[in-house]
Amino acid sequence: MTVLITGGAGYIGSITTRLIRASGRGVVVLDTLENGHRKAVGDAPFVQGDIADSDLIARVVAEHGVDEVVHFAAYKAVGESMSNPGKYFNNNVTGSQKLFEALHQAGVTRVVFSSTAAVYGTPQSVPVRETDALSCESVYAETKLMIEKTLGWYSQTTDMRNVCLRYFNAAGASDDSTLGEDWRFSQNLIPHVMKAVLGFAPALTVFGNDFPTPDGTGVRDYIHVEDLARAHVAALDYLAKGGHSITCNVGTGHGTSVMDIIATTERVTGKKVPYEIAGRRAGDPSECYADPRRINETFGWSPTRSLDDIISSAYAWHTSHPHGHDS
Ligand SMILES: NC(=O)c1ccc[n+]([C@@H]2O[C@H](COP(=O)([O-])OP(=O)(O)OC[C@H]3O[C@@H](n4cnc5c(N)ncnc54)[C@H](O)[C@@H]3O)[C@@H](O)[C@H]2O)c1
Repeated sequence: MTVLITGGAGYIGSITTRLIRASGRGVVVLDTLENGHRKAVGDAPFVQGDIADSDLIARVVAEHGVDEVVHFAAYKAVGESMSNPGKYFNNNVTGSQKLFEALHQAGVTRVVFSSTAAVYGTPQSVPVRETDALSCESVYAETKLMIEKTLGWYSQTTDMRNVCLRYFNAAGASDDSTLGEDWRFSQNLIPHVMKAVLGFAPALTVFGNDFPTPDGTGVRDYIHVEDLARAHVAALDYLAKGGHSITCNVGTGHGTSVMDIIATTERVTGKKVPYEIAGRRAGDPSECYADPRRINETFGWSPTRSLDDIISSAYAWHTSHPHGHDS
């Protein structure tokens, strides 16, 4: 079996590519390298190109004998999606639609897609279940929901089946600290904590300490990127065995506050995290964590890494790669 991995030069894609290869499948990575790194692909077969290039997709599928796809390629910056919505609708939605049609024309029937917990917006209750109300609060989230729906229609009208994985907060680095997130481009909390603890930023800004949570700071569900990668292998196995289209949360089921992250970082690294409190950001929910029962019951997947593992792997990666893959 050969898996086409779009966006496989990015943060989650590169770590997942490695695990998919280790699971015994062949791969071919397709990435524009706009936000990814050739180095992160290593010696995996690689094609530089765009998901919207239908002729290229047809050629890659034929030349590499692709029969499965993991679709990571997308823009993901929430703020930018609000200032430049066209960029996001075009790359994420139109690009994905062109990709799916090219795959369908080429006879590829199994697709795993990177969706996001952002489709729930501000949850009405936690833990969040897949059947809960969807309420996109950004163009980015809306593009992901539109892609889920597009896949839903391909699933109803063709023999293409899909697994949509709604990631909660992907975090940490590869076990060997050679692949991780570039803090220069990340909006996520843990890279910012690492920047502060390693002295590359004067202090971490904590947005809001007056939420209705135990310590007043926002609560999220941090999922180790290696566990997230395992969820993709489980999803591919599920589809290969004939599983029907399904949407699953990928999270731990545990809420962790910003102060918990700071305290864990201080304990694991033995260093102080300088931080300052600022006001809440518009649209930030107080709490968002997954109910992961569906993915557990359907694929037998559950996380194996702890918050300590997330922090120690992130610390090792950022210490050795302060300039990401350009280090
Ligand atoms: N990081 C998170 O916490 C998180 C949470 C939920 C969902 N996601 C989703 O997971 C996926 C991967 O996220 P990531 O953090 O690894 O992001 P990333 O930016 O590191 O990786 C995305 C990759 O896609 C490539 N790409 C973008 N548009 C492309 C196109 N048109 N054709 C080919 N390649 C293209 C980029 O060059 C990049 O290498 C994204 O779809 C993102 O929306 C991420």
